[in-house]
Amino acid sequence: MAGDDRVVIIIGPQGSGKGTQAAIVAPQLGLVHISVGDLFREVMAGDSELGKILAGYVNRGELVPDDLTIRMLFERLDQIKAQQPTLRGALLDGFPRNQAQAEALDRALSERGDRLVAVAHLVVPYDVLLQRLSGRLICKGCGTTYHATLNPPKNPPFCDVCGNELYQRSDDTPEAVERRLKIYYDQTEPVLARYAKVGLVIDIDGNRPIDDVTEELLTALRPRLEAR
Ligand code: AP5
Ligand code: MG
Repeated sequence: MAGDDRVVIIIGPQGSGKGTQAAIVAPQLGLVHISVGDLFREVMAGDSELGKILAGYVNRGELVPDDLTIRMLFERLDQIKAQQPTLRGALLDGFPRNQAQAEALDRALSERGDRLVAVAHLVVPYDVLLQRLSGRLICKGCGTTYHATLNPPKNPPFCDVCGNELYQRSDDTPEAVERRLKIYYDQTEPVLARYAKVGLVIDIDGNRPIDDVTEELLTALRPRLEAR
């Protein structure tokens, strides 16, 4: 990302569809999708010391410490910036999750000369979140997300996109889900007020079919990305 790039945040509780939607809309908007959770799972899949440290937090459903999270996020941004200079900017999924991360993001954006143009907030009721997380399946190869009944693959347990096997996330256990949702309502949701004050928040009803949510996100985000 060079200076003057556009940044969009997608925010919502666990299971609201951030990852599902970001993977679809980011390429259509010329943005790179950066999921902090996927970044952590990528490192956890290897055999490094860092992977073990991350797993200690992620598998229990706790937040990874802010300094480590922020360092990993910006390293990834810089790596992508070097590889894909034509991108318009980034769609951040899973960041920021608390006030300290929101402040760190503000500082980093102003240092880089980049601009936050919208915060897309996916709104989904609690009981629907629990249903979605209990049936979620992820592809080991390409990371595409499915649901055993709500969004099933054509040929289970294999991915429609790349044919690799699907798995259940290590933090989709009832105990970890409860802890993750509590952290969301205690620490992440309050961050929205900061962005609402400056008119950046767009509420999207995420409790509808995937295609309808995608359509509304694209319609809402295109003008924000195009505005000077
Ligand atoms: P992360 O991977 O970001 O997980 P999360 O925030 O818990 O959010 P989810 O991925 O569970 O939900 P989602 O909204 O992406 O839902 P999805 O699209 O998959 O983070 C994991 C962990 O990493 C954290 O717990 C923490 O430990 C650590 N971490 C991450 N960021 C951090 C940070 N900034 N600081 C510190 N630590 C951090 O959809 C869910 C299911 O619903 C799927 O099965 C899908 O098929 C289905 N679905 C989606 N949309 C629909 C729809 N419209 N209709 C029907 N089904 C749908
Ligand atoms: Mg996700």
